[in-house]
Amino acid sequence: MHIRRLTLLAGVIIMLVALAILLGTAASAASGGAGDPVKGQYIFAAAGGCGCHGVNLAGYNPSGPPFGEIFTGPFGSVPASNITSDKDTGVGNWTDAQLMDAIRNGVDDGGHTLFPIMPYMTLHFMSDADVADLVAFLRTVPAVSNKVPERQLNGSAPTVPPLPPSPATAPASGLARGKYLATVVGDCNACHTPQTPQGAPDMSKMLAGGVVAREGGTFEVGPNITTDGPTGIGYWTGQDIVTYLKQGIGPNGRTADGLMGEAVAGGFRRLGFNQLTDQDAVAIAAWLKTVPAVRNVPKAPPAGGPSAAGADSAWAPQFQALHGRPPAAQDIADREWSLAFAAAHGQPPSPADWMAHWQQTGQ
Ligand code: HEC
Repeated sequence: MHIRRLTLLAGVIIMLVALAILLGTAASAASGGAGDPVKGQYIFAAAGGCGCHGVNLAGYNPSGPPFGEIFTGPFGSVPASNITSDKDTGVGNWTDAQLMDAIRNGVDDGGHTLFPIMPYMTLHFMSDADVADLVAFLRTVPAVSNKVPERQLNGSAPTVPPLPPSPATAPASGLARGKYLATVVGDCNACHTPQTPQGAPDMSKMLAGGVVAREGGTFEVGPNITTDGPTGIGYWTGQDIVTYLKQGIGPNGRTADGLMGEAVAGGFRRLGFNQLTDQDAVAIAAWLKTVPAVRNVPKAPPAGGPSAAGADSAWAPQFQALHGRPPAAQDIADREWSLAFAAAHGQPPSPADWMAHWQQTGQ
């Protein structure tokens, strides 16, 4: 899958501050290493499977899925990193402390600030134990050699504003647990909260529906999941929400599609929301039931609008910048196929669609 968020630099900075204020307090210095990979696998799944990094977690690759995302916008272009244990092209040589720093503080092994599309300002509020476990799990991900191209920024990466210390422990149960899983680990806001014109999440309309731009000038709507009856999911029971998160089937019988389908099903080893324990899924549902109702129907910009044109004219130069060569005939053919697919189906091809396409065309 290729998502392209229309996030502006200013918006990103506002978002960092907003999230810091929203998610608040709790204090303790980060402890080091020695996590539990089994617990870490659960956190990975509760995070929806870190899908931007691709189903093999080897990051962006010009050949497309099953590899990861590339994000383009006014800020430049930022490919998702290879987070497998490959020593040359992945994070196999990083220390535990470096990995934890990247996840929670947005600093890479060379001390550079990561571009905040990597949601470290949200994951900052992950507990010491959870992040140590997650790192231990990442160590078990098989190495995949994939050299991800350097990011191309039109400025410097925004500096990280002072954030409160990360929490030592995560809430174990109840509403606090549900809020933690939804707003920190599962990052529901990323797709379900509308953005201001500057691209920052509009927290006055938390979870009232968001729009995510995807490759090919198409958009995906993250529905309103506040407690509003007419426009949200006020009429869903807690059990409806639990079933949806774990099985991807809503009370109306509709299955979770697109990005939500991927977060539920998971990419790497099918690790996604489907793995949530009953207790945790119930906690998320219970917390969602406390979210203030906001009447809002998120609307996607008209397909084929200015962003679609922008995406197209920007594509060849972007490709050139990333790969150091102009797109070859095969790259253009793949690109055209994915655009046609998106036009026909209302969403870009999934990794499975790509694989079927490659099989058919003998690639
Ligand atoms: C990567 C983006 C993304 C993330 C993260 C995400 N969602 Fe979704 N969600 C979507 C999209 C897109 C849909 C619409 C799916 C469809 O139309 O089939 C959706 C649909 C839903 C629905 C069904 C709403 C309806 O009216 O049909 C619920 C409930 C939901 N999500 C809850 C959550 C919760 C809770 C979280 C966090 C734990 C979450 N989502 C995280 C993108 C996301």
